[in-house]
Amino acid sequence: VDRINIAIDGPAGAGKSTVARQVAAQLGYVYVDTGAMYRAVTLLAQRKGIEPSQSEALRALVRDIDLQLIPTAAGQMIMLHNEDVTEQLRSREVTAQVSHYASNEHVRTKLGEMQRQLAEQKGIVMDGRDIGTHVLPNAELKVFLTASVEERARRRHRELTESNYVPLKQLEEEIAARDKLDETREIAPLIQAGDAILLDSSHMNIEEVVAYIVKLSQSKL
Ligand code: C5P
Repeated sequence: VDRINIAIDGPAGAGKSTVARQVAAQLGYVYVDTGAMYRAVTLLAQRKGIEPSQSEALRALVRDIDLQLIPTAAGQMIMLHNEDVTEQLRSREVTAQVSHYASNEHVRTKLGEMQRQLAEQKGIVMDGRDIGTHVLPNAELKVFLTASVEERARRRHRELTESNYVPLKQLEEEIAARDKLDETREIAPLIQAGDAILLDSSHMNIEEVVAYIVKLSQSKL
């Protein structure tokens, strides 16, 4: 084989997207941020006033959704019905609600199909929650990237500026609450795949994590 698929799953704020983006860049692969896809569905549902409990409305919403993932030098741009929503997807409103929309079966089925299609050609680094367990169960390399909740909150906290300041303790609570929803949902919950390599990055920096995953990927070729 000359190209493989790499699945990187784990809880919120473990550095998955930063790591996945850099691994993809080093290998010349395409990075796919599946969290951004769930965030895009959330943003659209919020704009249309659809609640997470309105399953039929969500089914129609994802049936007709026009979602484009465009690889860029910085990672990935998301176009929602021809509007660049990449920045908006990181808002607190979306972050606070995304796990509720992500538990819906129609949303998961539709996005899972799109994700499998994206990975058909191989050479994909995909990050999310259920990639190794459900979306790409045959991925050649699976990594479960985690870190203590305190460390994950500290990292997020360091990225904040005056305009979007949130106390550390509050960040920690929000991250823990989102993990709990993702871990306890009925469909495709967040869990380490049996054949995934567990990587606790609490005491590793990004370069070390990236180098380790790149090395693992080379051993699969
Ligand atoms: O990775 P990110 O924090 O952007 O993901 C946002 C949310 O999207 C997660 O908390 C989870 O609820 C949902 N998600 C998911 N399955 C994935 C990726 C993300 O349920 N594969």
